[in-house]
Amino acid sequence: MFLYEQDPPVPSAKSNVLRFLDVARRFPGRTAGAPPFTAVRDLSFEVNESEFVSIVGPSGCGKSTLLNMIAGLDRPSEGTVSLHGVEVVGPNSSVGFMLQKDLLLPWRTVLHNVEFGLEARNMEAGARRERALQELKRCRITEFADRYPYQISGGQRQRAALARTLAIDPDVVLLDEPFSALDAQTKLILQKSFAGTIAVAGLTTLLITHDLSEAVAMSDRILVMSDGPGRIVDEIEVGLPDRDNPIARLAMPRATEIVKHLFHALHIDNRLDA
Ligand SMILES: Nc1ncnc2c1ncn2[C@@H]1O[C@H](COP(=O)(O)OP(=O)(O)O)[C@@H](O)[C@H]1O
Ligand SMILES: [Mg+2]
Repeated sequence: MFLYEQDPPVPSAKSNVLRFLDVARRFPGRTAGAPPFTAVRDLSFEVNESEFVSIVGPSGCGKSTLLNMIAGLDRPSEGTVSLHGVEVVGPNSSVGFMLQKDLLLPWRTVLHNVEFGLEARNMEAGARRERALQELKRCRITEFADRYPYQISGGQRQRAALARTLAIDPDVVLLDEPFSALDAQTKLILQKSFAGTIAVAGLTTLLITHDLSEAVAMSDRILVMSDGPGRIVDEIEVGLPDRDNPIARLAMPRATEIVKHLFHALHIDNRLDA
């Protein structure tokens, strides 16, 4: 929750913010007469207030489908997805969604990109600018406020995209592989920057990643999905201190143990011929 104009709601005890109950998603068969295709099934899990949960799993196991259902861009074929106890039936302004591809509008400056989501809410221009500047500062991108997306680096673009996502004041943030297109060094810097921002803001966060170390470095808990149709086949409580400092976490012996565990859980050792 953020300290903007109004006082943030006081969270009751650690309540669950997000809940999947027996969720399945089927898509129509790919060819005429083909049976429906099951993307995910038997999904039941909860995410608590201010918790950071990562989801790992093979390509195509339904991770993005799962996020789309939280964002209200897609509906389950079976079961329910609820936020704060209310079933999700469409897009919801308490959810911020950030993708690998930043989707910044090329004809707008960084500042105007961050203001974009606020325009739809009829916020007065001065207040809008003030809010956007606050987010740029929080995401450490203020010095590039007047640049266009093509004038900044990939890492800076992702910071701007996070600022845009947070500007609408969500309390749940969905991150779909936000660092996967970045070089290794930029990735570490951004992991640290995002982790700090998210921890300070107390956001409930779901991160999808292919990077097992990233999942361990950033999360409180990790859900492992199987090959499609995707199900949750393992759940790991990370139990490491310093969630706001992923780089420090990676040096901890338990972090290495968990990465090894994930490596086995995903059968990566049996898939080296891929
Ligand atoms: N709108 C859709 N229509 C048909 N099939 C889809 C649709 N969205 C996703 N799928 C299929 O569902 C499976 C899971 O996709 P996705 O959630 O994107 O996987 P992931 O993000 O884990 O790589 C894939 O086989 C994909 O082709
Ligand atoms: Mg995906």
